[in-house]
Amino acid sequence: MIFQYSLLLILCGFTALSVSTETCGKDLLEGTSCIIKLPEKYNDKSNDIKWTHSSSDAVIERKNKKTKSNTPGLTMEEDGSLRFQSVSLKDTGTYIYTVTSSDGTEIGKGEAEIKVYEKVPKPTVKISCTADGNAALTCDVENNKDLSLTVSWCKDGKLIQNEINPQVFLSSTQVQENKTYSFSTETCGKDLLEGTSCIIKLPEKYNDKSNDIKWAHFSSDAVIQRKNKKTKSNTPGLTVEEDGSLRFQSVSLKDTGTYIYTVTSSDGTEIDKGEVEIKVYEKAPKPTVKINCTADGNAALTCDVGNSKDPSLTVSWYEDGKLIQNEINHQVFLSSTQVQENKSYSCEKRNPVSRNKSESVTVSCIAKIFLCLRHKRDSSTL
Ligand SMILES: *[C@@H]1O[C@H](CO)[C@@H](O)[C@H](O)[C@H]1NC(C)=O
Ligand SMILES: *[C@@H]1O[C@H](CO)[C@@H](O)[C@H](O)[C@H]1NC(C)=O
Ligand SMILES: *[C@@H]1O[C@H](CO)[C@@H](O)[C@H](O)[C@H]1NC(C)=O
Ligand SMILES: *[C@@H]1O[C@H](CO)[C@@H](O)[C@H](O)[C@H]1NC(C)=O
Repeated sequence: MIFQYSLLLILCGFTALSVSTETCGKDLLEGTSCIIKLPEKYNDKSNDIKWTHSSSDAVIERKNKKTKSNTPGLTMEEDGSLRFQSVSLKDTGTYIYTVTSSDGTEIGKGEAEIKVYEKVPKPTVKISCTADGNAALTCDVENNKDLSLTVSWCKDGKLIQNEINPQVFLSSTQVQENKTYSFSTETCGKDLLEGTSCIIKLPEKYNDKSNDIKWAHFSSDAVIQRKNKKTKSNTPGLTVEEDGSLRFQSVSLKDTGTYIYTVTSSDGTEIDKGEVEIKVYEKAPKPTVKINCTADGNAALTCDVGNSKDPSLTVSWYEDGKLIQNEINHQVFLSSTQVQENKSYSCEKRNPVSRNKSESVTVSCIAKIFLCLRHKRDSSTL
């Protein structure tokens, strides 16, 4: 007997942990550069400072104004804070600091803990079909040993499973539906690129369906509500997660604005209320450099984006690859002397979430020559 199976388009992914740029959070992604700050600044070098890692022999010390570290990538800031150039898994653990004044008195002591997580590798989906037409999809990451990863599975854009289990099982009926299985877990940032799929999380999880939840968009009539265990939305692409969070399947410009949520318990008491703001930007279009030469050989360059009217776009100008102007002004002016240097110019349009650079152009303004021709009348024709 021959069995035929439908092909599914399947994507899957993992929840990544947020990355802190400056001060180290408790949870860090491998490769992050950050600082563990001391509660006070000890810029006065007469104080000695010592940092030790309780799970390894890593020590860094500032003593008699000199700093010594036995671990590459571990440095001390001016104020005594500990800087990691790029955290790795082995940096996980507790860091103990002591501050000693010049007369040997201990004036500060404490500890800070960090946990470093592996960078999430790109997963692949393995599909195994059984003889009876069922399927098991596995979100597979080669050599991955990090057990804290959560896997989210979506079916036609709706979350169907969100747990540690990397497998999802489909019955033969489900397989024959030819649905798209995909994934997204991103929390919406304040600034978003058009088309992003993301979630606005509530400060707490309200998985208990006895609580009613309402999300309303301040600038439109978009409302989504979970009431008496049923969810209603007047806007396609807007859904409520199990825990009451708001999911955008694909944000568009009109989704910009403030979202107000209210959580009401079964007896009608308002138990939570708040608001979250998002701003959606379009993808920056590719600009072209338009050159306008004046009769005296000067030039005005315009960073042109045709019909795009996005007011949030700012412009950066580059001369031979070096930044020369960075502002709202879309024009840059060159004197005839600058024009004659034959340098290359390009511009870049950007908004907070995307950027796009023009091709480089070399400006040449040929002085306009006005010819005045006089024709001598041929007297023979008269
Ligand atoms: C799924 O795809 C198969 C093969 O392309 C097709 O025969 C079947 O009718 C499709 N089923 C649905 C529900 O669209
Ligand atoms: C720049 O814009 C063009 C078309 O407007 C687009 O095809 C291209 O992908 C954009 N580049 C970047 C880096 O966004
Ligand atoms: C070029 O300069 C002329 C004269 O000042 C002006 O009319 C024209 O609009 C300019 N073109 C561009 C592309 O700036
Ligand atoms: C710029 O290009 C022109 C024409 O090709 C040439 O005459 C001139 O010498 C060049 N100037 C410089 C500074 O290279």
